[in-house]
Amino acid sequence: MIEVKRITKQYGNTTVLEECSLTVEKGEIYALVGVNGAGKTTLQKLAAGFLEPTSGRVYVHGMPAWENKEEIQRYLGSLIEVPVFYEHLTAEENLNLHLEYMGVQADVGKILGTVGLEGIGSKPVSAFSLGMRQRLAIARALLHRPEILILDEPFNGLDPVAADEMKRVLMKSAGDGMTILISSHILGDIAQMADTVGIIAGGKIQKEFSMKEYREKEAGEFEREVLQIMKGGTI
Ligand SMILES: Nc1ncnc2c1ncn2[C@@H]1O[C@H](COP(=O)(O)OP(=O)(O)O)[C@@H](O)[C@H]1O
Ligand SMILES: [Mg+2]
Repeated sequence: MIEVKRITKQYGNTTVLEECSLTVEKGEIYALVGVNGAGKTTLQKLAAGFLEPTSGRVYVHGMPAWENKEEIQRYLGSLIEVPVFYEHLTAEENLNLHLEYMGVQADVGKILGTVGLEGIGSKPVSAFSLGMRQRLAIARALLHRPEILILDEPFNGLDPVAADEMKRVLMKSAGDGMTILISSHILGDIAQMADTVGIIAGGKIQKEFSMKEYREKEAGEFEREVLQIMKGGTI
């Protein structure tokens, strides 16, 4: 569903990604893990068609992402960096506007319930806490039932209970066939939910872990190995 093929991304003279490749299969949760500045957000923006690669290509649903950046939004739900809402409008109004924009219909009340915002859909977003905004952003990403979800550190600002609920929502969505590319630096969350973990360092995926194997191994071994690779440095 997502194929990153030998992507290089430079900002001016700075090379952030260099010949970086990865594949996310349908129904898979692929987690990107890396230190601050490793290039996780950049890679997710490239996958969502929000950034043009310096070289290489990202294919989403078989289409080159940048060249089809509008077309692929139908298949994509994304939460990348700080979500932007119409502050004076309510959560429901924000979600309805998104549906209108996407040209689809969905049950706004139900999705608010899914992310734990039931009963507060009629509050203006300006009154929302960071965690509530994050929940609303996840609701918006899920709203049009996209086949692919791209989530950049979606647990930021969520308390452990909310993060746990959100993990369950995402795992269930993947179980129903949704493909998820997620970044997080909370290794515990990742270990719990991901099928594959890709460690990004030095501009590329240095190592991939199939979590099925790791869940069977001794607790702590995954985190030890990941930390060691992450410390391997950036370009
Ligand atoms: N628009 C930009 N212009 C210049 N440099 C950028 C830009 N966006 C990100 N960078 C740089 O690219 C590197 C990777 O950033 P980012 O993809 O945000 O990493 P991560 O999400 O892993 O923390 C960082 O060194 C960052 O400063
Ligand atoms: Mg980032």
